[in-house]
Amino acid sequence: MFFLGGKGNLITLPRKLESGLRFRYSSLVPTKVIAVANQKGGVGKTTTAVNLAACLAAVGRRVLLFDLDPQANATSGVGLEKKEGASAYLALLGQGGLLDKIQATAFERLHMIPSEVDLCGADIELARSDNHLQRVTQALRPVLESQRFDVVLVDCPPSLGILTLNAFVAAHGVLVPLQCEYYALEGISMLNRIMSQLHDNGTNPTLELTGVVMTMYDSRTKLSQQVVSEVREHFGERVFETMIPRSTRLAEAPSFGKPIIHYDKYSSGSAAYELLAQEFLARLDKGNEAKG
Ligand SMILES: Nc1ncnc2c1ncn2[C@@H]1O[C@H](COP(=O)(O)OP(=O)(O)OP(=O)(O)O)[C@@H](O)[C@H]1O
Ligand SMILES: [Mg+2]
Repeated sequence: MFFLGGKGNLITLPRKLESGLRFRYSSLVPTKVIAVANQKGGVGKTTTAVNLAACLAAVGRRVLLFDLDPQANATSGVGLEKKEGASAYLALLGQGGLLDKIQATAFERLHMIPSEVDLCGADIELARSDNHLQRVTQALRPVLESQRFDVVLVDCPPSLGILTLNAFVAAHGVLVPLQCEYYALEGISMLNRIMSQLHDNGTNPTLELTGVVMTMYDSRTKLSQQVVSEVREHFGERVFETMIPRSTRLAEAPSFGKPIIHYDKYSSGSAAYELLAQEFLARLDKGNEAKG
């Protein structure tokens, strides 16, 4: 009996396994943790985290959406309620495990660690504790070891505070949504500098910029086009080809607790996030091949 291996190689199964033993496919590729971050508010971090997560799940990846923002917009965006004690807060303080916080959503293969307002206190509480930048890394360890997920997407708050830094320390990559507006690049040098420091001082030597995604793009305006070309000049190939259009359907979907592909499958926003998911996966898979 033959199976196609990861790179198209034929794998021969031992006779013992062939004979009646049933086994479940489990990915040997380690879980990738990607932080969706930009300290600027309202640039499309949550919209990107929720919709990319849903599109990745729809194409067969096992996805964990981790809401690390006390505003809990990603939580309501996938139709979960904000419930006291349901967030990662206690697990980050070393009380209880993060595995217990994982909830199923209404969407196949999409799970969630919800947020709620208690996470507001985490910045202050964590600042006073030991290893305060490693708390997300430590809490996520059993989740990664469980091999239940292919991708963990972390929706970060709009700041470069302790929660976001924790996500950067735990992550393999950072995905930066940039809104197509005049000040898009403002503050990005700060984000870049922090990523370089974590990389260079050994805190997270494998941290990469997974990519920059342009959001709320309006092809009718010259401004959108100018901003995109300026950002491409700055980040080169790290900018995803796919740009997310400004779309009312995308803005409405969270109020129905649904990602866009489940709210309006044939909208422009749906198509854009489906394409982004393909590009995103191509980058992740390329990274895995390079390391494997
Ligand atoms: N492509 C889009 N078209 C239209 N509206 C959008 C689009 N992307 C996001 N929005 C809307 O813009 C607002 C901000 O988006 P979002 O919440 O995703 O940003 P954010 O960066 O997560 O914000 P915060 O910094 O507060 O966490 C929301 O009302 C959202 O519905
Ligand atoms: Mg947000």
